[in-house]
Amino acid sequence: MLHLGSSWSGLALTIGVLLGSKPSAYGDLSASRPNILLLMADDLGIGDLGCYGNHTIRTPNIDRLAADGVMLTQHLAAASLCTPSRAAFLTGRYPLRSGMVSSTGSRVLQWVAASGGLPPNETTFAKILKDKGYVTGLVGKWHLGLNCESSEDHCHHPLNHGFDLFYGMPFSMMGDCLPSDISEKRVILERQVNVCCHIVALAALTLALGKLTRLTPGSWTPVVCSALAAALLFLCSCVLSPLIAHADCFLMRNRTITEQPMRFHRTTALMLREVSSFLKRNKQGPFLLFVSFLHVHSPLITTEPFRGRSLHGRYGDNVEEMDWMVGQVLDVLDTEGLSNGTLVYFSSDHGGSLEAHFGNQQYGGWNGIYKGGKGMGGWEGGIRVPGIFRWPGVLPAGRVIQEPTSLMDVFPTVVQLGGGQVPHDRVIDGRDLLPLLLGTVQHSDHEFLMHYCERFLHAARWHQRDRGTVWKVHFVTPVFQPDGAGACYNRMVCPCFGDQVTHHEPPLLFDLSRDPSEAHPLTPDTEPLFHQVVERVKEAVRDHQQTLSPVPLQLDRLDNVWKPWLQPCCGQFPLCWCDREADPQ
Ligand SMILES: *[C@@H]1O[C@H](CO)[C@@H](O)[C@H](O)[C@H]1NC(C)=O
Ligand SMILES: *[C@@H]1O[C@H](CO)[C@@H](O)[C@H](O)[C@H]1NC(C)=O
Ligand SMILES: *[C@@H]1O[C@H](CO)[C@@H](O)[C@H](O)[C@H]1NC(C)=O
Ligand SMILES: *[C@@H]1O[C@H](CO)[C@@H](O)[C@H](O)[C@H]1NC(C)=O
Repeated sequence: MLHLGSSWSGLALTIGVLLGSKPSAYGDLSASRPNILLLMADDLGIGDLGCYGNHTIRTPNIDRLAADGVMLTQHLAAASLCTPSRAAFLTGRYPLRSGMVSSTGSRVLQWVAASGGLPPNETTFAKILKDKGYVTGLVGKWHLGLNCESSEDHCHHPLNHGFDLFYGMPFSMMGDCLPSDISEKRVILERQVNVCCHIVALAALTLALGKLTRLTPGSWTPVVCSALAAALLFLCSCVLSPLIAHADCFLMRNRTITEQPMRFHRTTALMLREVSSFLKRNKQGPFLLFVSFLHVHSPLITTEPFRGRSLHGRYGDNVEEMDWMVGQVLDVLDTEGLSNGTLVYFSSDHGGSLEAHFGNQQYGGWNGIYKGGKGMGGWEGGIRVPGIFRWPGVLPAGRVIQEPTSLMDVFPTVVQLGGGQVPHDRVIDGRDLLPLLLGTVQHSDHEFLMHYCERFLHAARWHQRDRGTVWKVHFVTPVFQPDGAGACYNRMVCPCFGDQVTHHEPPLLFDLSRDPSEAHPLTPDTEPLFHQVVERVKEAVRDHQQTLSPVPLQLDRLDNVWKPWLQPCCGQFPLCWCDREADPQ
């Protein structure tokens, strides 16, 4: 379904060559200080958009953005889950460099009241642009930590990372926000309850043996155990769920909680009101606004006008509503006369989730022809996301670029456009995209890209420019369920290590330029360059590893557990209830 065929690459190349001679006409654009509007969807698949080949979902506003701008077809997230991918996006660095990864399976920050988060010594593009006189705002999802030692130190807060305004969720939308919905966290808790149960059973058995009662312990431990498990499960669903919704699903403006728990029927309107008011207040510019949508993450909260409207159930409704929101934001740019002076970017933090199903209802995104999805570090479906840039009068309209690019590239690109300097005291993995977008160069600066799953390297990509080939080498892949569905339905996400992954030696090799779906692994028989390619990639991996230095991991162990003293609470603990926000019109 994705138009990756040679006709598109030919077209892109032709347009590229035609425009190749022109950019001088635009003069030197670096430090031209446009306004910057970054739009990021949550969990959206690349196959969920009309402009990327979906003919049954309606996304006219994003499609228009693509038609008026440059569309990237090989735009890659640095991780296949929210927290690490967003950390990389904001810092231009692989998340391993800032420690925004786990090594024990927790994958993302699990609680608002966890102490891990984006370290204060990391530099976001917002921080640099703010120093250069930009007014910076973040509306929507953060999910990069909040507090370190007390419930109000806000050490990881967006205002400590270069944003002048924060309005949104310090955490993330998730199933647990709606206690009636499918839940991510409850599944984990229930698993822990199971473990508890085994411990209790074992203790009971020991006790029984110790007392040498004449009853065989085997006859009653299952009963006690089941009763206990039932009681704990009841506690989970009836008491814990609403508590989780209170604890994690709330809105803040700057440092103040405005709404706890959230009243979802008006969240979309509140977000849009905030965006519009930011744009109107700051139209004299320059500004940087990051609109980090709560859509299209579960529990897929969609307002009435969009419910039941799409051809793809609750998920499709939510995508179509998000597209409408994009349209509303672009309309404000238009009516305020800001469109020509604003670079607009649209992307998703990673691919759609294949595991998210509710019964047989689709709950997660569609990754088109690409294999795998959310949570899988190496397969394309987890990391290949939409990437659109629009800047009327500067960037060509309707250009499609197939070169490998990364979400991390936004960092140097916007920093330089804003007249800032990329930090020299640390490794920056992103590359300035402007020359590629303008067509002054034909190739992206990325020769190699590393694809991590937690802190484990699962795959690497080599863009062999002289041959026009993109190779992909997989060292580790998740073990899919045997039913052939290509996902890990027995879990919420595929794991990154342990007995649920396969280590490949020799590694799996694919030629993405001929086989974007990674359906046909190459062998030394079918690919004469096999050993050469694998060796070259291994060498690049070694070079890359030389540039890594150990930092504390923010998502592991005690940094990623609920700490009661870090729990933000509006009103009287443990009630945590307040509503300080006026209803939107
Ligand atoms: C369009 O997107 C929907 C929603 O994710 C998906 O179910 C459907 O398969 C997609 N269709 C095509 C043709 O890509
Ligand atoms: C907080 O929010 C307002 C907008 O509501 C903004 O103008 C203000 O400068 C922000 N920052 C701080 C640190 O209060
Ligand atoms: C915006 O830019 C386009 C393309 O260069 C131009 O046609 C249009 O007149 C400009 N609009 C305004 C309001 O300046
Ligand atoms: C940030 O601080 C940590 C120690 O907490 C250190 O390991 C790391 O190198 C520092 N990062 C930068 C970019 O200075």
